[in-house]
Amino acid sequence: MSDFSNETPKLSADEKLNLLVEFGARISCELRLDKLLDIIAQQITHMLDVGRCTIYLKDAERNELWSKIAQGRGLEHTEIRVPLDGETVTSIVARTGQTINLADAYEDKRFSMAVDMVTDFRTHTLLAVPLKNNSGKVLGVFQVANKADGSPFDKKDEGILLLLATLAASSIEIAKLYQDVHVAQLETIYRLAVTAEYRDQQDTRAHLKNISIISYLLALALGMSKKEAELIKNASPLHDIGKVALADNILLKPGRLTPEEFEIMKSHTIYGGRILEGAHSKVLQVAHKMSLYHHEKWNGTGYPKGLQGEDIPLEARIITVADVFDALCVSRVYKKAWKTDDAYLYILGESGKAFDPRIVAAFKKIYSSVRKLYLNQTPQAKTPAPAPAAARKQTV
Ligand code: C2E
Ligand code: SIN
Ligand code: SIN
Ligand code: FE
Repeated sequence: MSDFSNETPKLSADEKLNLLVEFGARISCELRLDKLLDIIAQQITHMLDVGRCTIYLKDAERNELWSKIAQGRGLEHTEIRVPLDGETVTSIVARTGQTINLADAYEDKRFSMAVDMVTDFRTHTLLAVPLKNNSGKVLGVFQVANKADGSPFDKKDEGILLLLATLAASSIEIAKLYQDVHVAQLETIYRLAVTAEYRDQQDTRAHLKNISIISYLLALALGMSKKEAELIKNASPLHDIGKVALADNILLKPGRLTPEEFEIMKSHTIYGGRILEGAHSKVLQVAHKMSLYHHEKWNGTGYPKGLQGEDIPLEARIITVADVFDALCVSRVYKKAWKTDDAYLYILGESGKAFDPRIVAAFKKIYSSVRKLYLNQTPQAKTPAPAPAAARKQTV
């Protein structure tokens, strides 16, 4: 790693090149925006030897700048938002595209202490440069504070930070685009799933949310990676998509189905399989397996194919536990809601029968979390369930 302390009066062309190559290599392969911003901030902190690096991005829709900053050591990230038309350093740099360099931040009325207050960090020197894309549009602001040697930031620091910002801009733009597309995809999936469940569920949203949380926790408890678990979580709302093809007189029948009617009901798995057949995206491929096989049983007595054991795709073996547990815990036109703990005992009792014993063992591990999920919800509520606390954003 190059040394940028004040002993080196000017950055040599070689140093500059090394710096760019190393920085570029580390940031170019990361597509997830949050991760990318973390990596950039880490790299800059290291390269400039500063106490803190904060990256703000513009949120044009809300006319704000936002940043995720770590509180304390290794603690969770808090989202900070500042108005774009404000009169503090970050807003001014974003608006004017000019650099601001403060030798004594607390002495300058443009400096806002808001971030220091939530982070227990005392800013002494501060350098803020605009983050511009290739066409000169300001995407946000890069800020560094407190050089390790205590000296104020100089012209060379400004140059380096601007250079790094320029280099990071395209990666950030790509990651933002990627995130937008990803978010749009998830939203589409979710809305499609709501459409499918709309007719027969009292509280579609809570039902879909619960199932996706349970399958996510199951996947993690089974030792799957976070990425695989997220795929399962995101695909899970579509497992009953085939129900769109069922007529009301069957789907909404307020009582037990006749054997003939149940035969028709079973076809929702086949329809789901057809709807998602040949999908290209990973998440829809997982959803395809789930929708086709979520009523298969470990002992081979399920439908539509009567598959047995590990012939049933793992994703389907996971979703079936989540689906049955949730179906038991809520009321349907044809049945009353069970007590959460009774539903749990039912799941345990079906180990090796309807369900893969490994998945039931994983369900045991996560049950205390699952139980809380249901205790916090009023069954049959018509309003959407509250988001889990961890998912809520804290805004300063
Ligand atoms: P669903 O209501 O989402 O239920 C999903 C699965 O949860 C069921 O799959 C079943 O394995 C389990 N489950 C739900 N309620 C109970 C229950 O009270 N006792 C037990 N032991 N298990 C339960 P299944 O049986 O293959 O049913 C698939 C879908 O067919 C159900 O989805 C529901 O939409 C419909 N369905 C099943 N039975 C009836 C019924 O008697 N009347 C009506 N109207 N619909 C039914
Ligand atoms: C944005 O991408 O502009 C806002 C995203 C966020 O608030 O996390
Ligand atoms: C500012 O906008 O005044 C800078 C606040 C900070 O990020 O420390
Ligand atoms: Fe189903």
